Amino acid sequence: MLVVYFVGLLTVLVESYPTGAPPSSCDNLLPHHHGTSPQETPSPYTFYVDSNTYTPQSSLVVSVFGSPAFLSFIIQGRRSDTGAPVGTFVKIPANTKYLLCDNQRNSVTHSNPTPRNITQFIWVPPTENVGEIIFKGSVARSKSLYWGVLESKPIKYSKTAPTGGSNSSRLSNSSLLSLFIIITMFISSFLIF
Ligand SMILES: *[C@@H]1O[C@H](CO)[C@@H](O)[C@H](O)[C@H]1NC(C)=O
Repeated sequence: MLVVYFVGLLTVLVESYPTGAPPSSCDNLLPHHHGTSPQETPSPYTFYVDSNTYTPQSSLVVSVFGSPAFLSFIIQGRRSDTGAPVGTFVKIPANTKYLLCDNQRNSVTHSNPTPRNITQFIWVPPTENVGEIIFKGSVARSKSLYWGVLESKPIKYSKTAPTGGSNSSRLSNSSLLSLFIIITMFISSFLIF
Protein backbone atom coordinates (compact mmCIF):
# COMPACT_ATOMS: atom_id res chain seq x y z
CA MET A 1 0.00 0.00 0.00
CA LEU A 2 2.73 2.39 1.06
CA VAL A 3 4.81 1.24 -1.92
CA VAL A 4 1.95 1.91 -4.33
CA TYR A 5 1.54 5.36 -2.83
CA PHE A 6 5.23 6.05 -3.06
CA VAL A 7 5.49 4.89 -6.67
CA GLY A 8 2.46 7.02 -7.51
CA LEU A 9 4.06 10.04 -5.89
CA LEU A 10 7.31 9.46 -7.76
CA THR A 11 5.39 9.16 -11.03
CA VAL A 12 3.76 12.52 -10.41
CA LEU A 13 7.05 14.14 -9.43
CA VAL A 14 8.94 12.96 -12.48
CA GLU A 15 6.18 12.75 -15.04
CA SER A 16 8.04 15.15 -17.29
CA TYR A 17 11.81 14.94 -17.53
CA PRO A 18 13.57 18.31 -17.79
CA THR A 19 16.94 16.66 -17.15
CA GLY A 20 16.72 13.79 -19.61
CA ALA A 21 14.66 10.78 -20.61
CA PRO A 22 14.37 8.10 -17.91
CA PRO A 23 15.96 4.62 -18.24
CA SER A 24 12.54 3.23 -19.17
CA SER A 25 12.88 5.16 -22.46
CA CYS A 26 15.71 2.79 -23.50
CA ASP A 27 13.17 0.35 -24.90
CA ASN A 28 10.37 2.35 -26.50
CA LEU A 29 12.42 5.54 -27.09
CA LEU A 30 9.50 7.79 -26.10
CA PRO A 31 9.55 10.43 -23.34
CA HIS A 32 7.07 8.70 -20.97
CA HIS A 33 5.19 11.92 -20.37
CA HIS A 34 2.28 10.84 -18.25
CA GLY A 35 -1.04 10.63 -20.11
CA THR A 36 0.37 11.77 -23.45
CA SER A 37 1.06 10.12 -26.79
CA PRO A 38 3.18 11.01 -29.85
CA GLN A 39 1.84 13.34 -32.53
CA GLU A 40 0.51 11.64 -35.62
CA THR A 41 1.30 14.54 -37.96
CA PRO A 42 4.50 14.35 -40.06
CA SER A 43 7.52 15.10 -37.91
CA PRO A 44 9.16 18.51 -38.31
CA TYR A 45 12.34 16.88 -36.92
CA THR A 46 14.86 14.74 -38.76
CA PHE A 47 17.49 12.20 -37.71
CA TYR A 48 20.35 12.64 -40.18
CA VAL A 49 23.47 10.47 -40.65
CA ASP A 50 26.26 11.77 -42.86
CA SER A 51 26.95 8.42 -44.55
CA ASN A 52 25.01 5.48 -46.00
CA THR A 53 27.59 3.00 -44.70
CA TYR A 54 29.65 2.18 -41.63
CA THR A 55 33.12 0.66 -41.57
CA PRO A 56 35.21 -0.61 -38.67
CA GLN A 57 37.20 2.26 -37.07
CA SER A 58 35.18 4.92 -38.86
CA SER A 59 33.10 7.53 -37.11
CA LEU A 60 29.90 9.14 -38.31
CA VAL A 61 28.23 12.46 -37.60
CA VAL A 62 24.65 12.03 -36.44
CA SER A 63 22.35 15.07 -36.24
CA VAL A 64 18.89 15.80 -34.89
CA PHE A 65 17.43 18.97 -36.36
CA GLY A 66 14.24 20.83 -37.20
CA SER A 67 12.22 23.85 -36.22
CA PRO A 68 10.51 25.27 -34.24
CA ALA A 69 13.15 24.68 -31.60
CA PHE A 70 12.84 21.48 -29.57
CA LEU A 71 13.52 21.11 -25.86
CA SER A 72 14.14 17.44 -25.40
CA PHE A 73 14.98 14.29 -27.33
CA ILE A 74 16.31 10.77 -27.18
CA ILE A 75 18.35 9.02 -29.88
CA GLN A 76 19.82 5.53 -30.08
CA GLY A 77 21.54 3.46 -32.82
CA ARG A 78 19.85 0.08 -33.29
CA ARG A 79 20.40 -3.08 -35.29
CA SER A 80 17.59 -3.45 -37.79
CA ASP A 81 17.38 -7.22 -37.33
CA THR A 82 17.29 -7.60 -33.53
CA GLY A 83 16.50 -4.03 -32.40
CA ALA A 84 19.45 -4.17 -29.97
CA PRO A 85 21.21 -0.85 -29.24
CA VAL A 86 24.58 -0.76 -31.00
CA GLY A 87 27.63 1.49 -31.44
CA THR A 88 28.96 4.25 -29.19
CA PHE A 89 28.41 7.98 -29.10
CA VAL A 90 31.95 9.23 -28.49
CA LYS A 91 31.36 12.98 -28.55
CA ILE A 92 28.20 14.77 -27.42
CA PRO A 93 27.57 18.51 -27.14
CA ALA A 94 26.62 20.72 -24.18
CA ASN A 95 23.05 20.36 -22.88
CA THR A 96 23.01 16.64 -23.70
CA LYS A 97 24.01 13.53 -21.76
CA TYR A 98 24.29 9.78 -22.15
CA LEU A 99 21.31 7.63 -21.40
CA LEU A 100 23.17 4.48 -20.39
CA CYS A 101 21.09 1.69 -21.91
CA ASP A 102 22.71 -1.70 -21.13
CA ASN A 103 25.38 0.42 -19.39
CA GLN A 104 26.81 1.55 -22.74
CA ARG A 105 27.14 4.98 -24.29
CA ASN A 106 24.69 3.96 -26.99
CA SER A 107 21.96 6.56 -26.42
CA VAL A 108 21.84 10.32 -25.88
CA THR A 109 19.19 12.56 -24.35
CA HIS A 110 18.92 16.24 -23.34
CA SER A 111 20.42 17.22 -19.96
CA ASN A 112 18.25 20.33 -19.58
CA PRO A 113 15.29 21.83 -21.47
CA THR A 114 17.27 24.38 -23.53
CA PRO A 115 15.52 25.21 -26.83
CA ARG A 116 17.63 24.03 -29.78
CA ASN A 117 17.24 23.64 -33.54
CA ILE A 118 20.07 21.18 -34.03
CA THR A 119 22.20 18.87 -31.95
CA GLN A 120 25.06 16.76 -33.35
CA PHE A 121 27.04 13.76 -32.17
CA ILE A 122 30.05 11.72 -33.21
CA TRP A 123 29.18 8.03 -33.25
CA VAL A 124 31.45 5.02 -33.69
CA PRO A 125 29.92 1.81 -35.12
CA PRO A 126 30.58 -1.72 -33.86
CA THR A 127 33.72 -3.30 -35.32
CA GLU A 128 31.89 -6.26 -36.83
CA ASN A 129 29.14 -6.41 -39.42
CA VAL A 130 25.80 -6.33 -37.60
CA GLY A 131 23.72 -5.66 -40.70
CA GLU A 132 21.69 -2.51 -41.15
CA ILE A 133 21.72 0.11 -38.39
CA ILE A 134 18.99 2.73 -37.90
CA PHE A 135 18.98 5.65 -35.48
CA LYS A 136 15.67 5.80 -33.65
CA GLY A 137 14.18 8.04 -31.00
CA SER A 138 11.87 10.95 -30.36
CA VAL A 139 11.89 14.75 -30.24
CA ALA A 140 9.73 16.94 -27.98
CA ARG A 141 8.76 20.59 -28.28
CA SER A 142 6.84 20.51 -25.00
CA LYS A 143 5.59 17.98 -22.50
CA SER A 144 2.58 17.05 -24.61
CA LEU A 145 3.90 17.83 -28.11
CA TYR A 146 6.38 15.24 -29.33
CA TRP A 147 7.08 13.02 -32.32
CA GLY A 148 8.24 9.43 -32.30
CA VAL A 149 9.42 6.93 -32.94
CA LEU A 150 11.53 8.77 -35.55
CA GLU A 151 14.00 6.88 -37.74
CA SER A 152 17.09 7.80 -39.74
CA LYS A 153 17.75 6.15 -43.08
CA PRO A 154 19.35 2.72 -42.60
CA ILE A 155 23.13 2.54 -42.86
CA LYS A 156 24.85 -0.60 -44.13
CA TYR A 157 28.14 -2.29 -43.32
CA SER A 158 30.96 -1.71 -45.77
CA LYS A 159 34.47 -3.17 -45.53
CA THR A 160 36.03 -0.07 -47.03
CA ALA A 161 35.76 3.55 -45.97
CA PRO A 162 33.04 5.61 -47.65
CA THR A 163 34.25 8.08 -50.24
CA GLY A 164 33.53 11.75 -49.83
CA GLY A 165 36.27 13.01 -47.56
CA SER A 166 37.95 12.08 -44.30
CA ASN A 167 36.13 12.16 -41.00
CA SER A 168 37.91 15.34 -40.04
CA SER A 169 36.79 17.19 -43.17
CA ARG A 170 33.23 15.95 -42.74
CA LEU A 171 33.40 17.09 -39.14
CA SER A 172 34.60 20.55 -39.97
CA ASN A 173 31.82 20.80 -42.55
CA SER A 174 29.28 20.06 -39.89
CA SER A 175 30.95 22.50 -37.49
CA LEU A 176 30.56 25.11 -40.19
CA LEU A 177 26.89 24.16 -40.50
CA SER A 178 26.49 24.57 -36.73
CA LEU A 179 28.28 27.90 -36.82
CA PHE A 180 26.00 29.08 -39.61
CA ILE A 181 22.92 28.03 -37.63
CA ILE A 182 24.19 29.74 -34.48
CA ILE A 183 24.86 32.99 -36.38
CA THR A 184 21.43 32.83 -38.00
CA MET A 185 19.81 32.29 -34.60
CA PHE A 186 21.86 35.11 -33.10
CA ILE A 187 20.77 37.53 -35.82
CA SER A 188 17.14 36.44 -35.65
CA SER A 189 17.11 36.97 -31.88
CA PHE A 190 17.93 40.65 -32.56
CA LEU A 191 15.17 40.84 -35.14
CA ILE A 192 12.66 39.42 -32.69
CA PHE A 193 13.50 41.51 -29.60
C1 LIG B 1 14.89 27.80 -34.50
O1 LIG B 1 14.55 28.10 -35.85
C2 LIG B 1 13.43 28.96 -35.99
C3 LIG B 1 13.08 29.05 -37.44
O2 LIG B 1 14.20 29.04 -38.27
C4 LIG B 1 13.76 30.31 -35.36
O3 LIG B 1 12.67 31.18 -35.49
C5 LIG B 1 14.09 30.10 -33.89
O4 LIG B 1 14.52 31.32 -33.33
C6 LIG B 1 15.19 29.05 -33.71
N1 LIG B 1 15.28 28.75 -32.29
C7 LIG B 1 16.42 28.73 -31.63
C8 LIG B 1 16.40 28.38 -30.20
O5 LIG B 1 17.46 28.96 -32.17
